[in-house]
Amino acid sequence: MIKHSTDYSLLPHNTFGIDVKAAHFVEFSSVEDIKAIAGRLDSVRHLVIGGGSNLLFMGDFDGVILHSAINGVEVVAEDDDTLLVRAGSGINWDEFVAYTVERGWQGLENLSAIPGEVGASAVQNVGAYGVEAGDLIERVECISLSDGSEKVFTKEDCRFAYRHSVFKAEEKGKYVVAHVVFRLNKVGNYVLTYGNLKEQCNALGGVNAANIRKAVCETRAAKLPDPAEIGSAGSFFMNPVVEASVAEELKSRFPAMPTYAAPGGVKLSAGWLIDQCGWKERSSATVGVYRNQALVVVNLGDATGADVLAFAAQVQASVKEKFGVDIHPEVNVID
Ligand code: EPU
Repeated sequence: MIKHSTDYSLLPHNTFGIDVKAAHFVEFSSVEDIKAIAGRLDSVRHLVIGGGSNLLFMGDFDGVILHSAINGVEVVAEDDDTLLVRAGSGINWDEFVAYTVERGWQGLENLSAIPGEVGASAVQNVGAYGVEAGDLIERVECISLSDGSEKVFTKEDCRFAYRHSVFKAEEKGKYVVAHVVFRLNKVGNYVLTYGNLKEQCNALGGVNAANIRKAVCETRAAKLPDPAEIGSAGSFFMNPVVEASVAEELKSRFPAMPTYAAPGGVKLSAGWLIDQCGWKERSSATVGVYRNQALVVVNLGDATGADVLAFAAQVQASVKEKFGVDIHPEVNVID
């Protein structure tokens, strides 16, 4: 069923809590719905959104916002060790993770409590606590918005990288994600590399998917704002990757600076860099950083997209001045 609304408030669809409207809001709940819409949007400004947890609207959207309400979870194949689980793109991400953990399917537990929906998890390659969605994704089933044809992207086709996929690059805006197929494990193959996740699990009675989920939920609740209470888009910036020589030089000046090995160099913590610039003690009238995690830019009330961007530019400039490092938003800015 296709639902069409006009002059539609996007407040419930962006976790930043920016009060803007869409000229048209179209919600689809099946592959057939997408096929019926495809081909009719070529000359119209349009944007597919998920849970709106990574969006920053600069103003009203004078076009069509498309949103998936495709749900349903099914096991489409299984072998001795793994199962392929196909999930509708409109399912709330954390409800999906909870569903898999409850059934003893393993793999997504580290990605607990991330806001957003299943479709966007593939686009954004969401990641936390040592795991990225792309590690578990087998394929992404899409529909072309221009002609309604079906296209399956294998894991390799998706070209997942840190907070990145082909859907944010050359295929941007061309497809709607209908379903995502995850390969989950039947046996424990847990990732416990982050912080004291292992100790947290032991304190909860042992390492298993349910306890990892509990520990991750506790850690997130302690560090990150609840979007229902404080407007934000989670991490506003990506962690920058710099050349090893740059990291070494910075480390000699700032020995406490956290560093992580990463493809192509050394990953720094944007949150730490921002924190060191004193942003937890400073804010603008409507925008600040979160007290427990400086990487999260928060709406202090009635912020506009322009307020947020102006504040973010000041943060970027201060990090550049103190550390000589460029940090870039992971949030998608919608003009
Ligand atoms: N740090 C500070 N001050 C701060 C924030 C962080 O000193 O205000 C330090 C921490 O003490 C730690 C380091 O910086 O040593 C890294 O912080 P944290 O472990 O919180 O992780 P992060 O790199 O800041 C990333 C993701 C998060 C994800 C966590 C855990 C990005 C952009 N962010 O944050 O993802 O939950 O790791 O894996 O990669 C999100 O994308 O919205 C998000 C929350």
